[in-house]
Amino acid sequence: MRIKIFDTTLRDGEQSPGASMSVEEKVEVALMLEDLGVDLIEAGFPVSSPVQFEAVKKVATTVQKPIVVGLARCVEKDIDVVHEALKDRQKDKRMIHVFIATSPIHRKYKLKMEKEEILERVRRYVAYAKQFFDLVEFSAEDATRTEIPFLIEVYKTAIEAGATTINVPDTVGYALPDEFGELIKTLKEGVPGIKDVDLSVHCHNDLGLAVANSLAAVQNGATQVEVTLNGIGERAGNCSLEEFVMTLKVRKDKLSYETGIRTELIYPASRLLTHITGLIPARNKPIVGENVFLHESGIHQDGVLKHRETYEIMKPSDIGRSSETLVLGRHSGKHALRKKLETYGIKLDDETFQKVFEKFTELADRKKEVYDDDLFSIVSEVLKEPLNGYKLVHFHVHTGNTLLPTAAVVLQVRNEKREAAETGNGPVDAIFKAIDKALGLQPKLEEYIIQAVGTGKNAQGEVKLTLKIDGELYSGRGVSTDIVEASAIAYINAINKYLIAKGLLRKSGGVE
Ligand code: KIV
Ligand code: ZN
Repeated sequence: MRIKIFDTTLRDGEQSPGASMSVEEKVEVALMLEDLGVDLIEAGFPVSSPVQFEAVKKVATTVQKPIVVGLARCVEKDIDVVHEALKDRQKDKRMIHVFIATSPIHRKYKLKMEKEEILERVRRYVAYAKQFFDLVEFSAEDATRTEIPFLIEVYKTAIEAGATTINVPDTVGYALPDEFGELIKTLKEGVPGIKDVDLSVHCHNDLGLAVANSLAAVQNGATQVEVTLNGIGERAGNCSLEEFVMTLKVRKDKLSYETGIRTELIYPASRLLTHITGLIPARNKPIVGENVFLHESGIHQDGVLKHRETYEIMKPSDIGRSSETLVLGRHSGKHALRKKLETYGIKLDDETFQKVFEKFTELADRKKEVYDDDLFSIVSEVLKEPLNGYKLVHFHVHTGNTLLPTAAVVLQVRNEKREAAETGNGPVDAIFKAIDKALGLQPKLEEYIIQAVGTGKNAQGEVKLTLKIDGELYSGRGVSTDIVEASAIAYINAINKYLIAKGLLRKSGGVE
């Protein structure tokens, strides 16, 4: 049986603190998701901000095969805005996802509505959405903490009003696999008309059970599963695409379900998302974590060398992880670079490719060997280059164990330059302070991670950091052979995101 994969990386995934993406970044991820083979892409919640609106609109005019979905509350304005964002896409390739909370706790404290009012809203707004959309998904938020007879009534009402997919969210990740499976079975048997619509599940991972619950759901009749890449999402995240899909693949002896996912693109997709958001999966994260194909103990190494399957249930190549790390060098041409990127499913337009190629040759001149990871860094660096943001033009750092570390920076946006110098308790601290002074900002550094990209002395330093500015989180990333430079680039990138999001960059250049 074929299970539909509804990817919500760009909507629920983006709700992870620090994971917000620009319109260009969302489009890049959407193209990757299309290559990966997802059936539906939930591109955002358009009413929530102009960036969300633009992103949904842009994704809808860029990807071809998947159905593009926009989220709306049971509110007329939300539905109108999703319609506006998706109206130019053909009807069988666009969907609206309307939701309302149904559990007693949400009814009493959040919505302050009685059951009858909820039913009335479901009836009214699913029907309203149906005027514009052939495909309407309806979700009962916090379904797993809703009284089952009421839940049946809610879903029955949504189907009568025209819903074509019924989604069952475990919004707070509360359900247990056997009880969630049982709930799906009860709905499948008890909701009139449910056999004529898709039955979807949307599981959160607060107890680490999102994948197990989603599997229990398909074993009890669910036809669609909502997932995110790297399992990102609200709080502990959502059901991870890679874990769900690979479980079906590895255990096909027990689970006779298929998806349209090209599993060999899972790792490149995961890396692209990591580079764009700066959210690094834990090293031991199943499927895509750094460590999952490493064997530390002597007994395990011996076993794997004798016969790989002694300690491995899947091959790195099944998910597109290459054991070949060395890729290109200074003599590699454009053709080799393009081919290499394509093996990872990365397709770039000519202009972007040219920028990537220039950065690649610059790096190949500084560094003898360029590794796959270096390439991912360059690609994401180019793709996330804020169009109008500040660039680090020059910097100088004086440091040592007997002098006060000092940094001087020159930043530029269009034709406006800003300069400043500062001291700090180390070279990185000094350069951050110099940037703050140049821009007149005082961000709070919430997170700072530095790691090597590539191996040995040839590695580059990659810095990922998160800043809190005006109460909101912005992440940035920088890569360089010099870790102070990588830190400064990451810092400026995060600040640029803030300036762009708040519309604080003047047209002529500079901060408002
Ligand atoms: O977790 C949830 O309930 C949601 C809904 C909007 C489906 O994300
Ligand atoms: Zn959710």
